[in-house]
Amino acid sequence: MDDSFLSMRQVSFGYPDAPVAVSQVDWLMPAGAFHCLLGRSGCGKSTLLKLAAGLLLPDAGVVLLEGEPVRGPGPVTGFVFQAPTLLEWLSVIDNVLLPVSLKRPPDPSDFAHARALLDELGLGSMQGRYPSQLSGGQQSRVAIARALLTRPRLLLMDEPFAALDALTREELQATLLAVCGQHGTSVLFVTHDIAEAVYLADHVAVMDGGRIIFEQAIVLPRPRSPGLRHSAQFNAVCARLRQIMAPGQAGRACR
Ligand SMILES: Nc1ncnc2c1ncn2[C@@H]1O[C@H](COP(=O)(O)OP(=O)(O)OP(=O)(O)O)[C@@H](O)[C@H]1O
Ligand SMILES: [Mg+2]
Repeated sequence: MDDSFLSMRQVSFGYPDAPVAVSQVDWLMPAGAFHCLLGRSGCGKSTLLKLAAGLLLPDAGVVLLEGEPVRGPGPVTGFVFQAPTLLEWLSVIDNVLLPVSLKRPPDPSDFAHARALLDELGLGSMQGRYPSQLSGGQQSRVAIARALLTRPRLLLMDEPFAALDALTREELQATLLAVCGQHGTSVLFVTHDIAEAVYLADHVAVMDGGRIIFEQAIVLPRPRSPGLRHSAQFNAVCARLRQIMAPGQAGRACR
């Protein structure tokens, strides 16, 4: 047994027509950490995230959360999908309350918690709106508030900002760091955007062909500040990762 918060050991998973979607992945994540998984389209990132969530179960190896095998989706874990997946017929606050209202009628403390999360995410004044009345970035914020409603200790995020413009993404990255720091939430974040991964993460892994081909601790100062993106140190880390992810480099990467 190790004392990692999330631990994957020699995890493999295949679909009938993609037999090595994830292959022999080892991953250790301490509580409160922010880890990013980078990789090109089709390399297995979403599959790995679903294995961490218990939405898929490994063909081989084991996924442990707080030392216990993950056998299905549980309350410790929140998931934010690539598309915000809001219900069009529910208001913002009712979308945020959905994880509770699927089980029981929300009580006043649930409403207060949902409102507090919307405030933290800058949507305090929009709780009565419907998803069609929100921008893409605002919809992403609602999806994050919804995932945080059950106070998950682990937040799994699958390219949540992929559809947004660069400035909105940067704003949301800062908000996400602040909110998860405030709540002590551990985050495993999938992206194909190198600068996003370096800005957010304490640790970045690069995936290719179902395997982790490279890992690196990101030792940039916290709290992150917008100016960091222009620093030589930041750009050197990005350049190194870009090199690792360049076509034909997978076999040459080392840990
Ligand atoms: N439900 C499925 N059934 C069959 N094959 C699948 C399924 N989901 C994914 N795959 C295949 O598994 C491999 C890994 O897919 P996955 O969705 O994990 O990639 P990804 O890295 O998240 O890609 P993207 O960046 O495009 O989202 C791909 O070859 C994909 O075609
Ligand atoms: Mg994916």
